[in-house]
Parts: sequence; C-alpha cells; structure tokens
Amino acid sequence: MTMYHVIDPDTAEYLSRWVRHHDPVLSEMESYAGANDFPIIGPLAGAYLYQLARMVNAKRVFELGSGYGYSAYYFLKAVGTTGIVHCTELAKQNIDLAREFLTRADLWDRATFHQQDALSALEKIGGSWDVIFSDIHKKQYPETIELAYRHLRPGGLFISDNVLWSGRILDGKDDGTPDTAAIKEFTRRLFAHDGFITTILPIRDGIAVAMRQ
Ligand SMILES: C[S@@+](CC[C@H](N)C(=O)[O-])C[C@H]1O[C@@H](n2cnc3c(N)ncnc32)[C@H](O)[C@@H]1O
Repeated sequence: MTMYHVIDPDTAEYLSRWVRHHDPVLSEMESYAGANDFPIIGPLAGAYLYQLARMVNAKRVFELGSGYGYSAYYFLKAVGTTGIVHCTELAKQNIDLAREFLTRADLWDRATFHQQDALSALEKIGGSWDVIFSDIHKKQYPETIELAYRHLRPGGLFISDNVLWSGRILDGKDDGTPDTAAIKEFTRRLFAHDGFITTILPIRDGIAVAMRQ
C-alpha cells in the first residue's frame, strides 16, 4: 500500500527547516523515539504547541497522554518559570524516562506526572487550565470533549493530536477499526460543540485546535 502523507514530504521538509532547535536533550528524546518507534509529536508540531501556549499566555497546562515527556518539554518551556504542566501516563517506564530527560533539560521541577488514566486524573485534579493537550488512546477521544470543556478557562485551548490519522479518516480510506471510528466521531462532535471554535491544522498527523468560548 502506498504510504499516505498528510502533507507531501517535500513540503514537510521545507516546514521543518524553520524550526530546528539546538537542545541536545531534545535531540536525544527524538533519537529515542526513532530507535524505539515511539509516536512523539515531533519537532514541527512541538514548535507549534509552544507557539499556541505562548499565544494564550498559558501558565497551566494539562496533558492527556505524555509518553516520556517530549510534548511536555515544549509546554514546560512555554509556561516559563512561573508555570506548571501536569502530565498523565500509564506506563511507569515512560515516566522514569521523562524524569531522566526533563531533569537534564532543567524542566522537571515544574512538571507533575500522574501515573493513571488521563481522564480520571483530570476529573480528580479538576481546576481550570489554559491548555489541555490530548494524545491518549484514540478510542478515548470522544470522551475528552466535555471533560476538556469543563476544565478550560474561556479562551483556553483544547489541542488534540492525530486527528487526520494518516488519512484513514478520509472517504474510501477508512480501515474500519474502532480507533478510526473514534477519531471520526470525536471530530464530528468537536466541530458541532457550541462551546468551541475549532480548526484542524494539517501539521504532521493533523492537530485539532479548539478554543473554548
Ligand atoms: C502518542 S504517546 C504520547 C506522546 C507524547 N504526547 C509526545 O508527543 O511526546 C501516547 C502515550 O499516552 C499513554 N496513554 C494512552 N492512553 C492513556 C490514558 N488513558 N491515560 C494515560 N496515558 C495514556 C500511552 O502509554 C503513551 O505513552
């Protein structure tokens, strides 16, 4: 089967050219993802998360599905020394890695990791957040909408990764899996929600950015 690219590889390479970073720790995190086939958001989308968080002057960020802290790295940089980032991750091994990487990047102090289901964690911790970023199991995506709505301040951003799902959401390309069905249902509900103004950006695997009204 021909590989589907959300944006053609030449354009992706061109866009990536402008977002090169110089942090060896971040480079190591990227190498780890490559070597272990771990689905991090990557430098192009990471730079975009950083920009979005800065645009809304985010000081409180909640991540649903943090892996070993790669996307959290960008949010931790964006919130600055007075901000906080809460992270959620099921696998202890990933949290241990996050501690190692983020300590070396001098960011661990402002990160709080919860080893539990992301949705239960947000429900339990509660509060009002400037940004909620979601990258959990795709089957759970439809459940995230109301929860994010309840826990974002007006003007806050609900950002979700993988909403273009390597093209499997397109007519004629649906693979019939529950994950694909969940992403399609999520997208339908998010755009229908009166409390959000939503756009999908075709960066990497598609990022939905929904501003809470
Ligand atoms: C795509 S990876 C996250 C990558 C990360 N956002 C990044 O870009 O660096 C998804 C991670 O979320 C975790 N995960 C999936 N569903 C979860 C849930 N319901 N609660 C907490 N963690 C979850 C998985 O263990 C996995 O490490």
